[in-house]
Amino acid sequence: MELGLCEEEARAVNEGFLLAKTAGRPMVTLKLASSLDGEIATGAGESKWITGELARRRAHLIRSQHDAVLVGSGTALADNPRLDVRLPGMEALAPLRVVLDGRCRVGEALDLVQRAGEQRTLILTGEGTQHPLAERPGLEVCGVAETEEGLAPAAVLAALARRGVTRVMIEGGAEVAATFLKADLVDRIRWFRAPKVIGGDGRAAVSGWGLAHLIDAPRFTRLRVERLEEDLLESLRRAR
Ligand SMILES: NC(=O)c1ccc[n+]([C@@H]2O[C@H](COP(=O)([O-])OP(=O)(O)OC[C@H]3O[C@@H](n4cnc5c(N)ncnc54)[C@H](OP(=O)(O)O)[C@@H]3O)[C@@H](O)[C@H]2O)c1
Repeated sequence: MELGLCEEEARAVNEGFLLAKTAGRPMVTLKLASSLDGEIATGAGESKWITGELARRRAHLIRSQHDAVLVGSGTALADNPRLDVRLPGMEALAPLRVVLDGRCRVGEALDLVQRAGEQRTLILTGEGTQHPLAERPGLEVCGVAETEEGLAPAAVLAALARRGVTRVMIEGGAEVAATFLKADLVDRIRWFRAPKVIGGDGRAAVSGWGLAHLIDAPRFTRLRVERLEEDLLESLRRAR
């Protein structure tokens, strides 16, 4: 009997499950949709839509392949995202929606709250914080440990792992992307890039985190580059 056939492929397919068992956390995918110069919004905050229709449909498909999608309160407030799967026949695959909300800025008017009864929604806030939406039917609110930069990324992932999440996709914004990259908790990147230039007064895809030396920059291995009409989708894996 031969052992280890297609081991690498099997590990890749089961990465979420394996990380849950070995590290007690889900696999983390960071999804970004940027201009050629790496901006995710204009200086005025406009971000809909940077990429085209086919790229957006692909993003929904990738969403359906994750158990949870996560955004920061900045994105929740700026974009009021639905974070569902709007592909014919696949609506039921909508993942758990998670928002990081340390200062309790997420309010009643947002879709995340309005449709909480239809699609599971979890608000993570600081331990000991009394969130005003804590008692709202259909919503789950949970406190996790905090650091100076916000909710501790490892504590966020542990909270998701306790809920059975083995694959989470971070969908923004720039601050959340930076904290998870800095904590070396991004396993994969799906980067959609549109052939547009926004300029330096736009919003960089990843906020600064004080990196001084290139040798300390997290490196990713390019797995695939696909063309989706005018846009590109790069799929990358953390080089470990
Ligand atoms: N094109 C795209 O792919 C795309 C995707 C998403 C967003 N966007 C754009 O990005 C912009 C919003 O991004 P943003 O950087 O301002 O906000 P963000 O990253 O969505 O949210 C940041 C907020 O999340 C909360 N947070 C809690 N824990 C955190 C942690 N550990 N790390 C980071 N944040 C944490 C903090 O607020 P509290 O103190 O309240 O917890 C923080 O201010 C909008 O313009 C939106 O349109 C673009």
